[in-house]
Amino acid sequence: MSLYDYVLTQDGMITKEALLYPFEERGLQFGDGVYEVIRIYQGTFDLLEEHIDRLFRSAEAIRLEVPFTKNELIASLQELAVRNDVQTDAKLYLQITRGSAPREHSFPDVPANFYAYIEQSKRPVPLLQQGVRAVLADDIRWNLCFIKSLNLLPNILAKQTAKEKGAFEAILHKQGMVTEGSSSNVFIIKDQVLYTHPAADNILHGCVRSRVLTLASKAGLQVEETAFTTDQLLKADEVFITSTTSEIMPVIEIEGKLISSGTPGDNTRFLQRAYEKESGIKVTAFA
Ligand code: PDD
Repeated sequence: MSLYDYVLTQDGMITKEALLYPFEERGLQFGDGVYEVIRIYQGTFDLLEEHIDRLFRSAEAIRLEVPFTKNELIASLQELAVRNDVQTDAKLYLQITRGSAPREHSFPDVPANFYAYIEQSKRPVPLLQQGVRAVLADDIRWNLCFIKSLNLLPNILAKQTAKEKGAFEAILHKQGMVTEGSSSNVFIIKDQVLYTHPAADNILHGCVRSRVLTLASKAGLQVEETAFTTDQLLKADEVFITSTTSEIMPVIEIEGKLISSGTPGDNTRFLQRAYEKESGIKVTAFA
């Protein structure tokens, strides 16, 4: 998948070839920064304000001053999409770090570094149709996972374990209570009730997660923001994970055990369709 040419930085719009980072960059040396991944469907941002709100919440939580307002940032990102003439399905990655300075743990008195770029990105249609496998992994992360921080080592280690076991996602748990996926939120449906972990400090408050809760409530499904155990997960009628790039992804097998006889359940399918409609997706994956 290819990157579009122009990148937005703290110094304005430049080409991707011109983006250089010094060694002494706090994002590189300390993971001292926050990020967002935002979906673009046929050139139009999805859930843009929600992502920008979360970016500002993450930045505030690590005492990082964002050098522009939310509205300025939204306008600049839209300009970036226009400048790149984005017409396809794509995703935007943006990160902001505490800047470049000689390496010292405490905060330097320098301006933040920022960049945002857009990459073509297709919807994972076959997987959305058929569902995916997942494995379980210990959630060894810190307590402030609501911050979308650049420190992702536990997440990538769990994802790599999943990959090596032929699975799409690692579902994380702390002492047997499911928190979220390595890069997704986790939902189960049992006896027509939808459960997901509450939006507490120890999970990321996913933008897709919020949308799913709204869509499910609107459809009359009972919604419980209550943590559940790995045992409840394995015995669920339906399981799905959510994220910006995975949308509503059915999970049909966990640790070798089939969920809903190995096919996406009816409620999951209903929510997938409702999600497409809400996001303004024109070509359905579920014809
Ligand atoms: N990750 N939980 C974690 C740990 C995540 O990394 C993500 C998304 C989510 C879902 O959040 P949202 O619905 O806002 O995408 C939950 C992104 C896609 C990533 O790191 O690439």
